[in-house]
Amino acid sequence: MKLKHLISIDDLKKDEIIYLLELAEEFLPVAEGKKIRKDLEGNLLANLFFEPSTRTRMSFEVAMKRLGGNVVNMTAQEASSIAKGETLADTIKVVSKYVDVIVLRHPLEGAARFAAEHSDVPVINAGDGAGQHPTQTLLDLYTIKKESKLDRLKIALVGDLKYSRTVHSLIKALALFKSEIFLVSPQSLNLPEEILEEIERKTKIEKAELEDIIDYVDVLYVTRIQKERFPDEEEYLKVAGSYKIDLNILKKAKSSTIIMHPLPRVDEIDISVDKTHYAKYFQQAFYGVPVRMAILYELLRR
Ligand code: NCD
Repeated sequence: MKLKHLISIDDLKKDEIIYLLELAEEFLPVAEGKKIRKDLEGNLLANLFFEPSTRTRMSFEVAMKRLGGNVVNMTAQEASSIAKGETLADTIKVVSKYVDVIVLRHPLEGAARFAAEHSDVPVINAGDGAGQHPTQTLLDLYTIKKESKLDRLKIALVGDLKYSRTVHSLIKALALFKSEIFLVSPQSLNLPEEILEEIERKTKIEKAELEDIIDYVDVLYVTRIQKERFPDEEEYLKVAGSYKIDLNILKKAKSSTIIMHPLPRVDEIDISVDKTHYAKYFQQAFYGVPVRMAILYELLRR
């Protein structure tokens, strides 16, 4: 595998994705703390997060440290030179001399690709605006493989399909696996037309109502309304709280159906769902560790 950076899920071929998921499986006992490995000893990772993050930033740190590597974190933007007006290009040029790999989250679509052009070391896109979030996609696929099945998967993508980078990233991979995709969203949060056209050429995809497909799908992939990407508060308020997965709607689901969510959740999944066997979102967040171990191992071990 000749991966230099991981910017978009398009950077990976299907067999490379499968390989990374297999590698993640090997790292699972290390992620669980049951086995010790030091493959990344002597390596240093920089977390550069220009947007809030809990799971992505921490699971990269945990993955790196459990494999013997080390991590430096950029402090809040107000406390770094960004506040003095430093450009992203300059920050990247300097940080890439300090460390062996950079994990970047940025509000602007295209920021990670731009950063990669200025970096001497691998750049991993941990989310660029409403663009891509490829490491989330890999952990989503790993979760599907472990808790459901990737083969002939029937999946509903629910919620904010307009701004969710996790959806924009995952849907490309689902097309590679020829999944049958249902889009469930309020009209104003529809999947962008250009993405829909790309996916339509590759696999079966259609807009649907949750009630009509709940007894058919294997996975319900629920997303948060991406409030921070709305042009104004009023537009957000029009759709806020417009969908919710609760025990009532789940009465019609197959018993093997699983519910996923990249988290954080606001109110799109009722907390009463958490204790049911459908709920896999916390397990999904844990799988971020072995999957990010596999990605770091692949990018760094040369
Ligand atoms: C997602 C993100 O940042 O895109 N979070 C994550 O990485 N797990 C989803 C979200 O913020 O809603």
